Formats: sequence, C-alpha cells, structure tokens
Amino acid sequence: TAGLPIVVAVDGPAGSGKSSVSKAAARKLGWSYLDTGAAYRALSWFVVQRRLDPTDSDAVIDALPDFDYRIGTHPDTYHVFVGDHDVTDVIREPEVTAVVSAIARVPEVRAFLTGLFRAIIAHGEKRGIVVEGRDITTVVCPDAPVRILLTADEQVRMARRSAELTGHSAAHVGEALRRRDAADSRVVDFMNAADGVITVDSTDLDFDQTVDAVIAVVQKETHV
Ligand code: DC
Repeated sequence: TAGLPIVVAVDGPAGSGKSSVSKAAARKLGWSYLDTGAAYRALSWFVVQRRLDPTDSDAVIDALPDFDYRIGTHPDTYHVFVGDHDVTDVIREPEVTAVVSAIARVPEVRAFLTGLFRAIIAHGEKRGIVVEGRDITTVVCPDAPVRILLTADEQVRMARRSAELTGHSAAHVGEALRRRDAADSRVVDFMNAADGVITVDSTDLDFDQTVDAVIAVVQKETHV
C-alpha cells in the first residue's frame, strides 16, 4: 500500500499569508494543497443561498447532509464546487466572509468538516499535502509530522490584507479582520502554538523568504 501522504499542517490568523505561502510551498514540493477555510466559506455560501439564518445552528446542522462539497487539491488549479455551482470566487465575497464565523463556531459543523478533510487527505495521490486552516495542527491532523503556526504582527497582517483588497479603506479592512480573528479565536486558538508546533513569524520576511522558511521546516522534520 502507498500509505497516507505526509501532512504539513499550517495554522494561523487571517492576513498571515497562510494561503498563498502554503500554496507556494506545496507547488515547490510538488505536493497537494488543501485550503480548509474554503469549506467553511462554501458552507456559509450554501446557508445564505438557502436563505437560512446563519446564527440558527439547528438549521445549519439540518442542512449538512445536503452539503455536496468538492475541492481540488492541485495548488494551481483548485476549484471549489457545491453541487453544480463553481463557488471558487463567490466564497471570497464580503457577504460570505461576514457569516463564516457564526457557521464555524458550531461544533457539529466542525466535526462534519473535519471528517471531510481527513477523507480528502487520505485519498491524496501525491507523496505529501500541505493543509492550511485554524485547527489543523491541533484537531484535524494533530499527529502530522510537520506542524507550523504562521504568524505576523497585527499591523503587518492588516497592511497585507488591505493591499490585497484594493478599493476598501485600510481602516475598514483592519476592523473587519480584527473582528473575525476575535470571533474565530474564541472557538479555536490559532494565535498561540500548541505543544510541538513550530512558529514561523513572517513579520520581517518577504513572501519568498516565508515560503523558504516553511520549506526548511518541512525538510528538517521529514528529510524530503
Ligand atoms: O482562512 P479563511 O479566511 O478562508 O477561513 C474562513 C473562515 O473559516 C475563518 O473565519 C475561520 C474558519 N475556519 C475555521 O474555523 N477552521 C479552519 N480550519 C479553517 C477556517
């Protein structure tokens, strides 16, 4: 048997560069990439689409069996589908982002999506997979051979995020980011490294240096 792929678990707050760094690291290694936040976002889109109240956890839980979710794991060409809908772009819209914390705090939702992530990881065809989110190092893959917390000072994260979202004021972006991190960190702690998790602080690193720092940790821990 081929065995399970080598998992590189990456957690961190919004604006830490987690997604782009994890994707680039996966590409460099020739491995797969899984964006777990995309599933929380896609479920949020689904709930809004069905005109359910995102704060009504019973209604959200009742909708889970109908949530037909698919995501690619190639770092360059991954699309996100709910049923026949390609939701790759729409799940990044502010309307979806605004409700995702309410969805993500429901324990049944987390258990459901965690099961989904583990199934996707187990079916991977590459030697390894970089899995990125908030609770990958602690809940989804606590036994992963490589576990990384990617951080950056709040000021730096806000500046990076507002550079991404042109047309939005820096103050508005900063406030939204702070609010979402505060809500999310009440559910899972992704601001402090759990036991055995290696912190990569990108505050003083540029993008390529951050990717190299992550790759260096992977090489040190797995000898690939
Ligand atoms: O990484 P992101 O911004 O795309 O994540 C979207 C939301 O999903 C985020 O507000 C918190 C939640 N999330 C989570 O609770 N657990 C994960 N493993 C990934 C994301």
